[in-house]
Amino acid sequence: MSDLAPLDVATLRKDFPVLQRTVRDERPLVYLDSGATSQKPYQVLDAERRFYEQSNAAVHRGAHQLAEEATDAYEAARRAIAGFIGAQASNLVFTKNATEGLNLVSYAFTNATSLQARQPKEGLDERLLLGPDDNVVITQMEHHANLIPWQQVCAKTGAELRWFGLTDDGRLDLANLNTLIDGSTKAVSIVHQSNILGTINPVRQIMDRAHEVGAWGIVDACQSVPHQRVDVAQLGADAITWSGHKMLGPTGIGCLWASTDLLDAMPPFLTGGSMIETVTMEGSTFAPPPQKFEAGVPMVAQAVGLHAAVDYLNDVGMEAIAAHEQDLTEYLLVQLQEISGVRIIGPTTACERGSAVSFTVDGIHPHDVGQVLDSLGVAVRVGHHCAWPVCRRYGVPATTRISPYLYNDYSDIDIAIAGIRQAQDFFLGGTNRV
Ligand code: ALA
Repeated sequence: MSDLAPLDVATLRKDFPVLQRTVRDERPLVYLDSGATSQKPYQVLDAERRFYEQSNAAVHRGAHQLAEEATDAYEAARRAIAGFIGAQASNLVFTKNATEGLNLVSYAFTNATSLQARQPKEGLDERLLLGPDDNVVITQMEHHANLIPWQQVCAKTGAELRWFGLTDDGRLDLANLNTLIDGSTKAVSIVHQSNILGTINPVRQIMDRAHEVGAWGIVDACQSVPHQRVDVAQLGADAITWSGHKMLGPTGIGCLWASTDLLDAMPPFLTGGSMIETVTMEGSTFAPPPQKFEAGVPMVAQAVGLHAAVDYLNDVGMEAIAAHEQDLTEYLLVQLQEISGVRIIGPTTACERGSAVSFTVDGIHPHDVGQVLDSLGVAVRVGHHCAWPVCRRYGVPATTRISPYLYNDYSDIDIAIAGIRQAQDFFLGGTNRV
């Protein structure tokens, strides 16, 4: 237990309209799928609706009052969201989601490499240029969003894709840290907190090694920014991406923080209106970052909603949220391990791990476990969690995943645990019960 005052979950829950509803034969919804997406409080829904009702306009264009208000709201959101991770607004790019942020960065390598091949005088930053003698390093626990873009980069440039393997207890195997990341490494892109294993990785150590060899360090922080205080300086990365919808914000907006060095070095990803400085029929020059990476009319209402989400999280307190989740995770891990036939895929203690807990139940397919839970009103995720190599590594076709957040309490875990026992009764005739 932490020294922080416990969260008043019953009061918090009143802010989330969807948590008031019932599902499946009038059962109260027990939402334990926040690793996939979080629910939204009234404060976020109201902020977005108010923007559309009062100030809706395209930003950075137009000379009318609504355009001015919309631009102010959009840039205020950028300042608040950057501040949430201890960063400056000028280093924060809004994207559609974290996947787009990771694609934006990875495409910078292929785009720089192909531009340089055709226009060697352009003076593109050589730290972005890839060829068969170079390598990119990721891990075996990446979400597909931080795996497939790098596979594509390597397929297009001939660079080698390398990865850290996993230990039997769900941690990164860093025994070869200094040889896997070597003088030919150009990018190291790793997940902060695994969406399937829950593992929290020693990001700083890996970023420091990347910088020792002159490589860029990139972090997928989708599952960490919503759940713990993330400070950009402490992570020591060159780029960090995450999504709004997993941290009480709307869908359709993600964030990419990048160092000024990297933002300046990267060629644009999407091109078109709003990201230019001058345009002629022969060519164009680009606006300074972050505008260089925000082509087209951006997601203004979503930025306003995410601003409200950040305010909400700050009001509750990220330290209190992290402590609450730590307590729930410890409880969940103990309860799961008391059920015979349950195997946790990932660390079995709450040390250096987040609240997403994946497991299998002997003799029952993970989808069937999910279906029994659903029939009881409990929402969890089943499948490979967009991390297929992790399932292969641990020899499972899929897992069932419980991922609580600030609006869950012990009783939600108890209902899920009872549901798993009920699944055993149903599929195994109670033979596997303790
Ligand atoms: N990446 C999300 C998850 O882990 C969708 O469920």
